Amino acid sequence: MLNESWLHEAVRNEAKCAEALRSAARRQDVKLYVEQSPEIYRIVSRAAARYIAGETRQEGIVTARQLMEKGYAVSLEYIGENTADAEECKQAALEFMQLIQELGRAGMTSRISLDLSHIGLAVDPELAYLHLTQLAELAQLHGMELVISMEESEKTEGILAVYERAAAEHSHVGITLQAQLERTPHDLERVLACPGRIRIVKGAYLEDESIPRSDALNARYLELLDRCIRAGQPVSIATHDERLIRTAAERGYLKGPQVELEMLYGIRPDLAANLRAAGAPVRIYLTYGSEWFLYLLHRIAEYPPNVYTAITDMITGAAGRSALY
Ligand code: FDA
Repeated sequence: MLNESWLHEAVRNEAKCAEALRSAARRQDVKLYVEQSPEIYRIVSRAAARYIAGETRQEGIVTARQLMEKGYAVSLEYIGENTADAEECKQAALEFMQLIQELGRAGMTSRISLDLSHIGLAVDPELAYLHLTQLAELAQLHGMELVISMEESEKTEGILAVYERAAAEHSHVGITLQAQLERTPHDLERVLACPGRIRIVKGAYLEDESIPRSDALNARYLELLDRCIRAGQPVSIATHDERLIRTAAERGYLKGPQVELEMLYGIRPDLAANLRAAGAPVRIYLTYGSEWFLYLLHRIAEYPPNVYTAITDMITGAAGRSALY
């Protein structure tokens, strides 16, 4: 009896910790404080190093190459979001362009992933559209796909609107949908009318109305996936949930020509390696850059025991993760 109540207390504490981290992730003032305090930034960046390839494009490309040599496909993101200044949005778009060009020159066909609010959505949707289409044209030259990430639900409509316009002209531009949102089954109808890849995730953001991690969420995830597969859409099963992946494999979803598993760098490398060894198509999502604050908090919130690894990494440093794949 005592053990049971202790267990419930522990579960409640984990849930509270996850919620607090997700809410801190939305605090622009906390993010700026960390970014502008050199000592704090230096210490916390040691925890971030577990999940990001490094701060520079070169570090991103080196890690991508290591993973590709081991037989993984890669998605690369120059990390950032909510850029409030048009010139900074332009600089972010330029960085993505240089990334695509360098990967192209090196003969590395990586997928490029991005947040629309990093390249203009927070300033003006037209700016995001302009940058997205410029990047899409360059990516096409190099035979690369672009996949747009999905951000907080206040932005969902704006992101879908820019996506639909870009997708009408660029079939290699895809979109991410979050299974946790009530609206997603309707959004899927819209994006199935576009040719691009659909990446299905559970959803990282703290939302007022969303389906919590549960069997119901997994059932929703599988329903969305099933609709994509039946429509013959290119799809990324983006999760580290072993049970979900097993069910997808049992249903034969992984046999589709344009279906793949996509997992975040630094999370369950053991699972990625086992799936890869078993012949599954596995893509690792890799980020680089200095704006890792929100990303780090989400990775810890998703799995609160990561608080322990984060503290250990801050003290002893996290070694590069690519050797674990
Ligand atoms: P869930 O959270 O239920 O975890 C299942 C199991 O996986 C856990 O029990 C644990 O074993 C393991 N696990 C999960 N997260 C872990 C972690 N951080 N550390 C250690 N183990 C962990 N979200 C979003 O809102 N918008 C987006 O655009 C994207 N983009 C995106 C791309 C890709 C390629 C992936 C894989 C994920 C995203 N996400 C995202 C994040 C996504 O919404 C979700 O928060 C995480 O994938 C964690 O959810 P799972 O599906 O892994 O399941």
